[in-house]
Amino acid sequence: AQPVIVDCDPGHDDALALMLAAGDPRLRLLGVTTVAGNQTLDKTTRNALRILALAGVSGVPVAAGCDRPLVGDLTVAEDIHGTSGLDGPELDVPVAEAERVHAVELMRRLITGAAEPVTLIATGPLTNVALLLRTHPEVMSYVRRVVLMGGSTERGNTTPYGEFNIVTDPEAADIVLRSGLPATMIGLNVTHRALATAEIIAEFRALGTRLGTVCAELMTFFASTYHRVFGFAHPPVHDPIAVAAVIDPSIVHTVAAPVAVELTGAHTRGATVVDLHRRTANSPNADVAVDLDVDAFWRLLVSTVATLGPR
Ligand code: BDR
Ligand code: CA
Repeated sequence: AQPVIVDCDPGHDDALALMLAAGDPRLRLLGVTTVAGNQTLDKTTRNALRILALAGVSGVPVAAGCDRPLVGDLTVAEDIHGTSGLDGPELDVPVAEAERVHAVELMRRLITGAAEPVTLIATGPLTNVALLLRTHPEVMSYVRRVVLMGGSTERGNTTPYGEFNIVTDPEAADIVLRSGLPATMIGLNVTHRALATAEIIAEFRALGTRLGTVCAELMTFFASTYHRVFGFAHPPVHDPIAVAAVIDPSIVHTVAAPVAVELTGAHTRGATVVDLHRRTANSPNADVAVDLDVDAFWRLLVSTVATLGPR
């Protein structure tokens, strides 16, 4: 199985990403690290621990990382994910304790200790990953690639051209994308096609497990906020697509392209500038998702959730 670390800010869609990473037998989830983003670090960390407990996953270390972006202040996505970061279901469950090391140190240990190169799956702001690459550049040769949910080849969701994870910490995204590490970018241009419709929510509920009900309730809450804020009929489930792309590359079609992060822009700070048609002389630094097998993605996600948690 492919060794992976998930760096996340749960977050409704991060929760599903964690379940997929923990449940699919083609991956070995070495650890989970958390970052401030959708909510404050204490909340995203607690949420990661809750989701692993509800999924019946034990023995996977969880460590909290950065509580704010590299530059500037944190702005959380409370309007989308609620005050807890995972509003909707009842998540009362005994949780394990987080490790007493910083996320960057846990990542370093797991990466350098692994028998084969590790894939980093990042579903939140890239603060922890950037800090890892800057403080421990020696890990680069042990990392297979970073697969990140963030950015877009088109428009944004947090500003007209900025996507939340990149806008929250543009400098971190810039460091990661210019690091030389192979990167795969799963942006809004594909994630906006993975909509949790009423049928999908019903499939989660029909699993008949507590975890299935939790997923249905998470998606129901997510639907209400996406409807209120964006007018979407159904919410896009961004983050597990980054995990699916590692499990089964045929689910996401990518093209190599130069990607730059706008760090200044009067109106576009945090935008990902993707040179899809290769109009610049820049070399490609990322495989950029341009198409998604929506049905295969949902089959993979729902069938994996079905295997998790107590009956
Ligand atoms: C991203 O922002 C967060 O709110 C989601 O969890 C996802 O990672 C989508 O823009
Ligand atoms: Ca996220």
